[in-house]
Amino acid sequence: MNKKTVKDVDVAGKRVLVRADFNVPLDESGEITDDTRIRAALPTIEYLRDKGARVILCSHLGRPKGKPIDELRLTPVAKRLSQLLQMKVTKTDDCVGSQVESVVAKMKPGDVVLLENLRFHAEETANDPDFARQLASLADVYVNDAFGTAHRAHASTAGVAEFLPAVAGFLMERELAFLGKALADPARPFVALLGGAKVSDKIGVIENLLPKVDKLIVGGGMANTFLKAQGHDVAESLVEDDKLDLAKELLERAGSKLLLPTDVVVADAFAVDARHKTVSVDSVPAGWRILDIGPDSVETFKKVLMTAKTVVWNGPMGVFEFEPFAKGTVAIAQVLAEIDATTIIGGGDSAAAVQQAGLSGAMTHISTGGGASLEFLEGKALPGVEALQDKA
Ligand code: 3PG
Repeated sequence: MNKKTVKDVDVAGKRVLVRADFNVPLDESGEITDDTRIRAALPTIEYLRDKGARVILCSHLGRPKGKPIDELRLTPVAKRLSQLLQMKVTKTDDCVGSQVESVVAKMKPGDVVLLENLRFHAEETANDPDFARQLASLADVYVNDAFGTAHRAHASTAGVAEFLPAVAGFLMERELAFLGKALADPARPFVALLGGAKVSDKIGVIENLLPKVDKLIVGGGMANTFLKAQGHDVAESLVEDDKLDLAKELLERAGSKLLLPTDVVVADAFAVDARHKTVSVDSVPAGWRILDIGPDSVETFKKVLMTAKTVVWNGPMGVFEFEPFAKGTVAIAQVLAEIDATTIIGGGDSAAAVQQAGLSGAMTHISTGGGASLEFLEGKALPGVEALQDKA
């Protein structure tokens, strides 16, 4: 990575504004159900504390659309951070203004303060320069460790970098290193495994990856559109009819590089308790829909994956939220856990699927960014990365 990191700046005694992505899932009672993103930010926070910095953390949570919403306060995050860091993490009532300034003024080296949800101010998502300046005025150095939000050009991810020395945190560095190497200089064979519901969500990724990969495996709901484009009758399966021509064109362009399921699990309804059976892609019964890949497809994909040296996976192979249709996704996760390759899992659903399979520890890298990893794989520049200082 050609961007400066926390190691390239002097942070001793400095006030350091760290943009993290603490956009974590909460249950109805406001409890955090998955603290992966909080844990992922710890190496940067701990490094800064060790160096005697005053650590001012900031993040968004949800999409409050410019107004304070009590359920989206960062109070549970401050609590979890306090537990994980084994110290008191003070949370302010806002992210800018006089109360925040007075809390920050009292900070000592090693202290950690968490600012309130940035998106309680509409100026955050509008990337308002005055708001960015106010945030910047709290600190001497800016660290962006929020890879999951790096695809947003917001005040705390891009604007603030105009006013302070701006460097990457360790999580940002790690994400860019793994995803960047896969795209620029992968150990080969390089196999991409794409799934998820819709082709339209993955067009950019397919376009960008197709020339780079040795094989492109397509599963999940998005495979239905390709199967229909090949002339298979997929009955009631989810299909994007307006993408059939594009699917045909991609199939032609990809040739033998692109692999599709050969058998599928079909159901008579989109429901967890639907009747289901495994059939060949030629024999989807009228009135039924494809909800998972079948065992033959898993075997075919496994043979290809066993030869890979780099695998990037984005999107589940079926409706893994429903147990009867999670088998294909879990089987593929098990293959990735076994192979001798760099395995990179995109954030969001793919990360959730690997976690559900209990195999997170067996992957080389699981991205903390859903939308961000997708945009990165599309080859787009991420505003939160662009804003950081280049290495000399
Ligand atoms: C995410 O969860 O993908 C990031 O935190 C970004 O959130 P956003 O889509 O609301 O900008």
